[in-house]
Amino acid sequence: MLEERVRFGVIGLGMGRYHIERLLEAPHAEVRAICDLDQGRLERAGDQYAIAWRTSNYEDLLASPEIDAVVVALPNVLHAPVSIAALRAGKHVLCEKPMARNAAEAEQMLQAVSETGRLFMIHFNYRFTPAAAALHRYVEAGELGHVYHARSWWHRSRGIPNLGTWFTSKESAGGGPLIDLGVHRLDLALWLMGYPQATAVSGATYDLLGKALAAEQGREFTVEDMASVFVRFDNGATLVLEASWAENGERDEEMLTQVYGTKAGCLHRNTRGYEFEARIFRPEHGSYVSIAPQAYPRDLVSAQEHFAQCVLSGDTPSATAEQGLQVMRIIDAIYASAARGEEIRL
Ligand SMILES: NC(=O)c1ccc[n+]([C@@H]2O[C@H](COP(=O)([O-])OP(=O)(O)OC[C@H]3O[C@@H](n4cnc5c(N)ncnc54)[C@H](O)[C@@H]3O)[C@@H](O)[C@H]2O)c1
Repeated sequence: MLEERVRFGVIGLGMGRYHIERLLEAPHAEVRAICDLDQGRLERAGDQYAIAWRTSNYEDLLASPEIDAVVVALPNVLHAPVSIAALRAGKHVLCEKPMARNAAEAEQMLQAVSETGRLFMIHFNYRFTPAAAALHRYVEAGELGHVYHARSWWHRSRGIPNLGTWFTSKESAGGGPLIDLGVHRLDLALWLMGYPQATAVSGATYDLLGKALAAEQGREFTVEDMASVFVRFDNGATLVLEASWAENGERDEEMLTQVYGTKAGCLHRNTRGYEFEARIFRPEHGSYVSIAPQAYPRDLVSAQEHFAQCVLSGDTPSATAEQGLQVMRIIDAIYASAARGEEIRL
């Protein structure tokens, strides 16, 4: 039996620090150990959060009976090998997005989840914004009617992360803003649409601004800086998706997911930075109304606390390996479509 608090090891201390902060607030979790190859990051995080067990070898955590679950917050190229090793060592895994660099890696991860029976969740954290949780309840209750279209995007005017690091290498990251930012907005749209199966994908990618900025600094840039996508689903619904790290657009950071149904439509968007609002639009008693759902306390449960509760209860977590694989299949098809200049059937 697991203890009342799930004992986590956090691997990777960039985004991993965010996980540590959420885990420290979570009633059913504790951080037993942290891991990073970068000694400076390891010591700074260990000192700041008073975590004594620090290691540069993640296999130490996987071998220890004192760790129940790990957070994999590593560069994308390591998501599959480290998650699979952790699952095979009997650990539950909360893995950062994207699930992997491509669908082939995601399939291997799903296989390891099935074989080991351990819990696996992707950190699609925007599902855990109170605005998204409220909208999901409306959708689940059928309030939107028949959902037939969505549009979803994350645009940054100038926001390429760490130019010249693993982020801008196709080999290490699997792609650019599509796999980095678009993956969140793709998941959110699919989640609000009931996760229909994609049947066809048409995409285009661009790299002109990113390549030019990288060249000025003598850095590598082998990914896109913008992607534009149209997806068809088996239930007849469609989705327009866009993602960019660099564009000559209006706002620094603009996130929007809008879902259209026969009875109502809804949107999730950032008002500024990482603050979000939810809206429902529908006709009511002869008027067209806009409803702004407010957060319930239960909407404030973090992804980390949700995952810990699932480990203790055995419930299936939100954002499963199956859903992650669906997302990766769509992303693979977008890159293939962009390369070939034609629609890809799935
Ligand atoms: N969900 C979100 O909103 C969100 C936000 C940012 C990043 N991310 C994801 O988090 C992951 C990490 O991104 P980041 O921004 O923290 O990157 P980062 O490069 O800042 O951090 C990665 C860390 O992993 C460490 N590392 C690399 N190889 C290692 C190994 N073998 N063993 C131990 N440590 C190792 C590096 O030293 C580095 O400190 C990515 O998959 C990214 O997509 C998610």
